[in-house]
Amino acid sequence: MMVAGFSCFTLSSLFLVMMAHGIVAFDMLSNDNLAVYWGQNSYGAINPGKTAHWQKTLSYYCMDNSIDTFPIAFLVDSYAGGNLPSIDLANICNSGNANYFPGTGLLNCSFLASDIEMCQSAGKAVTISLGGGSGNIHFQNDSQAAAYAQTIWNLFLGGKSKTRPFGSAVLDGIDMDIEGGSQTGYVSFLTALRKHMNRGKKKYYITAAPQCPYPDAYIGNTLNAVGFDAVYVQFYNNYCGLQHYNHPNDWNFDAWDNWANKISPNRDVKVYIGAPASSAAGSGYVNSKRITSIIQQTQSNYSSFGGVMLWDASDAYANHRYDKAVKQALTHDED
Ligand SMILES: *[C@@H]1O[C@H](CO)[C@@H](O)[C@H](O)[C@H]1NC(C)=O
Ligand SMILES: *[C@@H]1O[C@H](CO)[C@@H](O)[C@H](O)[C@H]1NC(C)=O
Ligand SMILES: *[C@@H]1O[C@H](CO)[C@@H](O)[C@H](O)[C@H]1NC(C)=O
Repeated sequence: MMVAGFSCFTLSSLFLVMMAHGIVAFDMLSNDNLAVYWGQNSYGAINPGKTAHWQKTLSYYCMDNSIDTFPIAFLVDSYAGGNLPSIDLANICNSGNANYFPGTGLLNCSFLASDIEMCQSAGKAVTISLGGGSGNIHFQNDSQAAAYAQTIWNLFLGGKSKTRPFGSAVLDGIDMDIEGGSQTGYVSFLTALRKHMNRGKKKYYITAAPQCPYPDAYIGNTLNAVGFDAVYVQFYNNYCGLQHYNHPNDWNFDAWDNWANKISPNRDVKVYIGAPASSAAGSGYVNSKRITSIIQQTQSNYSSFGGVMLWDASDAYANHRYDKAVKQALTHDED
C-alpha cells in the first residue's frame, strides 16, 4: 500500500510539474511534431566568421517547447576502424576537443550524455542519424548488416559497450539519412535492430530522411520492406521542393501520403515536410508566413502528416527562431 501510494503520488506530482512547464511526453503519432537536425553547425559552415550564431551544445535547444525530436547528425561511416563507426558533430565534438576511443575512428563525446538526458527529461526524443550528404553507410551482405544492428544497439541504444560515444545516454532510436551508395543489407540491419528495440525497456524509433522525388533512389526499396515510424521527406534541393508548392506536378506530398497508406509495411507511418531552416541551404526555403500556410493545408488534408523536419538547429535559431514559427503553425498557436 505504502509503496503503491508513494509511487502514485510521485507520478502525479511529476505530471503536475510537467503540466506547469507545458512538457508532454513525445508522441510519434501526433500530427504536430517538429524534428530538427543538430550536430552539423550548418550556420557556421556558411558563416565561418559569425561565431556568435554557431551551433551550441544540445541542451541549449531544449529550453522551450518548440522542438520535439533531435536527430543527431551524423554517424558518417558505418566502419571507420576497429569495426566501429565514426561520428562527426562539427564544432561541438571533434578531434580537437575530444579523444578517439583507442584503436578506432570513433570520437568519445560522452560529455554530451547529460545534455541528451536533459532534453529527454523535457519530453524530447533524441536519435542518431546515419549518413548525411557525405555519409558512407555500407554493408557487404545481409549477415554483416544484421551483426551491425548489435553494434548500433550497444553503442547508442539499450545495449552495453565500453565505447559508447554518448556514454550513459540511451538514445531514442535511429534515423537513416542515406543520400548515396547501395541499399545492400539495409533491410537485414533494420529488421535485426527492430528486434532489439522490441525487447527494450522503452519505445525506440526508426526514421528515414528520403529526398522528395518518389520513389527514393537510395532508401526507397528499404522503405517498402521495413516498418518505419516516420519519414522526414526532404522537400528541398529538388524540383519537388517547397518552392514549387503551387505546381501539382512538382510538389508531391500526395505521393508520399499514398506510399504511407498503401505501400509502407507500417500503415501508421508519419510523413513530415522536411524544410530548410534558412535561405542559405540551396533551394526550397520559404519564409515563415508561407510555410505556415503550407503546413496548415497539408496537416488538414493528409492523415499521414506527422509534422515538420528542419535542417538544422543552428540555422533555425539564427533565422529569427524559424523553428518557433513552424511549431506555432503546427499547433495553431496564434501568438
Ligand atoms: C570517454 O571520455 C570520458 C570523459 O569525457 C572519460 O571519462 C572516459 O574514460 C572515456 N572513455 C574511454 C573508454 O576512453
Ligand atoms: C559478408 O561480409 C563480411 C564482411 O565483408 C565477410 O567477412 C563475410 O564473409 C561475408 N559473408 C558472406 C556470407 O558472404
Ligand atoms: C489534398 O489532397 C488531395 C489528394 O491527394 C490533392 O489532390 C489536393 O491537392 C490536396 N490539397 C491540398 C491543399 O494539399
